[in-house]
Amino acid sequence: MCGIMGYRGQRRAAPVLLGGLRRLEYRGYDSAGLAIRNGGMHVWKQIGRVQGLVDNLPAEIQGTLGIAHTRWATHGGVTDENAHPHLGPHQRVAIVHNGIIENAGAVRRDLERSGATFTSETDSEVIAHRLEAAIDEGLEPLEAMRKALNGLRGTWGVCAAFLDHDAVVCARNGSPMAIGEAEHGVIFSSDPQPLSEHTNRVLILEDGDMAIADESGFRVERLTGGASNTTAIVMEEAWGEAELGDFPHFMIKEIHEQPEALRHCISGRIDLRSGNGRLGGLHLSPKALTEVPHVRLLGCGTAMHAALIGQQLIERLARLPAVTHVASEFRYQDPVVNPRALHFAVSQSGETMDTLAAIKEIQLKGGEVHGVVNVVGSSIARLCGQGVYIHSGPEQAVASTKAFSNMVAALTIFAVQIGRTRGLPPAEAKQVLRGLREVPDLIEAYLADQGPIMDAVEMVKDASSVLFLGRDLSASVAREGALKLMELAYVPCLAYPAGEMKHGPIALLEEGSPVIVIAPDDEVKEKVSSAIHECRARGARIVLICTKGDDIAEQGDVVIEVPRTHPYCSPLLTVLPTQLIAYHTALSLGLDVDRPRNLAKSVTVE
Ligand code: F6R
Repeated sequence: MCGIMGYRGQRRAAPVLLGGLRRLEYRGYDSAGLAIRNGGMHVWKQIGRVQGLVDNLPAEIQGTLGIAHTRWATHGGVTDENAHPHLGPHQRVAIVHNGIIENAGAVRRDLERSGATFTSETDSEVIAHRLEAAIDEGLEPLEAMRKALNGLRGTWGVCAAFLDHDAVVCARNGSPMAIGEAEHGVIFSSDPQPLSEHTNRVLILEDGDMAIADESGFRVERLTGGASNTTAIVMEEAWGEAELGDFPHFMIKEIHEQPEALRHCISGRIDLRSGNGRLGGLHLSPKALTEVPHVRLLGCGTAMHAALIGQQLIERLARLPAVTHVASEFRYQDPVVNPRALHFAVSQSGETMDTLAAIKEIQLKGGEVHGVVNVVGSSIARLCGQGVYIHSGPEQAVASTKAFSNMVAALTIFAVQIGRTRGLPPAEAKQVLRGLREVPDLIEAYLADQGPIMDAVEMVKDASSVLFLGRDLSASVAREGALKLMELAYVPCLAYPAGEMKHGPIALLEEGSPVIVIAPDDEVKEKVSSAIHECRARGARIVLICTKGDDIAEQGDVVIEVPRTHPYCSPLLTVLPTQLIAYHTALSLGLDVDRPRNLAKSVTVE
């Protein structure tokens, strides 16, 4: 979602800030802006892409201090005026803000009563007004920010520049802020990734922290006063390039990175000799695992689909009840939390607000949560304090692909690990682990020969709706496939467990309706086959995703075969054609495949 950059240093600020904005583009946004202190406080901002902003900037902007932003609209429409930065009434401060100020309406009315006029509809502009008022009272920047934020309710990652002070100030409450200490200056960002080209020494603010970079370096304090406990960390070298390389889009690059990403995820975590999984970061002894009464998994979107597959494998391999929750619903259900239960929060970005809120609900009720997270040092990873990094490398396309696979792989290893403490026979465990270890090679084989994806694209691209069916583990693959096609190609999609079709969705079918069926060679294949017959009898046309060489192929109009694997690993293969169908359908409709409309990579609002 929204992205923040700030800089104070020896270099010209504009190129540093704009370079950072480009690295934040993948998060999704609808406008971009820049403020540079250079004699006055100069602001450029407009709707559209960062490149559009760059095209309208003067050739060489001087000034070594500034802030910048990419905005994803929440309060107020997508307009130039609502884009950030926002200025104080006399242009003596400029701010950029991520998050939502919940009492902005009341604060704004108060300010208007005392004569203030606003230039935007955003909740953020009140911060600029309050900050400038505090500066006008003679407060120093950090004190002024403290005063401006006191009395505001909501969430913020906020960064400010000052006309009369050689300082950049930032603060965090519920919306991430990171600071990089480079040789040439101090860089602020809402995401550690843009910092990596300048330094690997990064400090991630805690909620309630604020920081200043000025003539004397930088320091971090608490909003309530006193020093912060935050310490700098050295960022791990992320595997995988953040650049496109030879690929036309990040999504297709990331689809092709799945074998390598999986190898990173499972490496060192599979013990084939003893037939066990080794997820050390969980900090759970075998004895502790035997005492777990049940497992709950939480996530949103694709992460939730991966959690559903993990849930089924845990239940099957460990004979232990497991359930998945939509994270955005969880806390509103006033859930009963058993402190002895095991909870997993599954998230690529580690910043999803709904998932964070669900974790807090569990922690408030005495439970512990383990993260299954990609982004190292992210809010969820830090809040959980224990868990599994899935090591997908940077995922930049808004649609999640390689993170899904690695979430499933990590949860499969966990299912074996907890299964082994509860009587899972070693031979069975070894079969699953061997299967998992072979998956990267099988994905490579499939990607080298993808089957008639374009025939499937022809069937779905102009359809008024597409039905996805699958059963057992494949029911979650069907949901994931439907989500991908819907979010990228804007084709309405429904996903149902195949057995549910006759209880309602079958009414949609008419001559030529496209149905995508996920039917690997597993125990429920015959049941799925009956659903295919029921669809065909109503004139539906079937895109069948099945195991290579399986007889069920006769039942498809378009048949996409994936290599045979252990049935428990089948989602890692059957999901691939669904990713490719979504990708190519979006392209054939001329859509922006990496940045679909209205979506953001990291959903940091509720
Ligand atoms: C779909 C997609 C989203 C995310 C969801 C959760 O392709 O990417 O549905 O899966 O917003 O995001 P994370 O995993 O970052 O918590």
